[in-house]
Amino acid sequence: MDTSPIAVFDSGMGGLTAVRALFSLFPHENVVYLGDTGRVPYGTRSDKTITRFTSQAFRFLRRFSPKAAVVACGTASTVALSHIDCGGVPVVGVVRPSVRKAAEVTLNNKVGLIATPASVRSGVYPGYMKEIAPHVQMTAHHGRLLVPLAEDGRISQDDPVAVLLIREYMQPFIEQGVDTLILGCTHYPLMAGLMEQALGKGVTLINSGYEAVAALRGRIPRGAVEGKGTHRYYVTDDLESFTRQASLFLGQDISGTVEVASPEE
Ligand code: DGL
Repeated sequence: MDTSPIAVFDSGMGGLTAVRALFSLFPHENVVYLGDTGRVPYGTRSDKTITRFTSQAFRFLRRFSPKAAVVACGTASTVALSHIDCGGVPVVGVVRPSVRKAAEVTLNNKVGLIATPASVRSGVYPGYMKEIAPHVQMTAHHGRLLVPLAEDGRISQDDPVAVLLIREYMQPFIEQGVDTLILGCTHYPLMAGLMEQALGKGVTLINSGYEAVAALRGRIPRGAVEGKGTHRYYVTDDLESFTRQASLFLGQDISGTVEVASPEE
């Protein structure tokens, strides 16, 4: 039995989509989460800055001697994964698991990717698809304005701005006739309903955070076999607003388990 935690990193609070997946797939495991809420967004920054921030974050997370790490942040996964040192334990990003899943579920071999500008610029998703399933055609576009929209809570299917924007972002995927769309950014699963509404029936959405967590199966030493794992959260900005929003998102009150961290020190 190894009760050391699973570390989860995101540029902000979007990585809680991966924490939710951990709760359902690994309920007994301890979790330590770092959300760089003081420096979000990463997705519109240069590769150099994204790599520096991510390396600092992992220097912080290594203090907890995790048994594995999930890079829930699509941007850090595409740009900085090879620079991450987590003390030799498995580090899973979102790219490979979600591309593998997309290649498995597509029936017409047309897959879309929506992610941040930095992730799309990296070319990492189509590059990996070419490696594992060269017959699958991938169309990649960024959804630059979707992170601020989601951060602002504009995710309702009745929100006229969200509906309009998502319709515009989904258009190239409709034109390409994709039957599978990878949501390559932590925030996008929050808008899955809006995307489905715009895409119509017959398109499978892949939640990259969930796929990353699922990829840990069989790769980590087992923790406790019963009881609920303990969860600790670190943020780099306002503690109260994170606690409030995260409690709502996770459906449980996490007050008292959130602390402020300074990974850049
Ligand atoms: N976490 C980022 C990602 O998944 C989205 C927010 C940001 O741009 O930092 O790419």
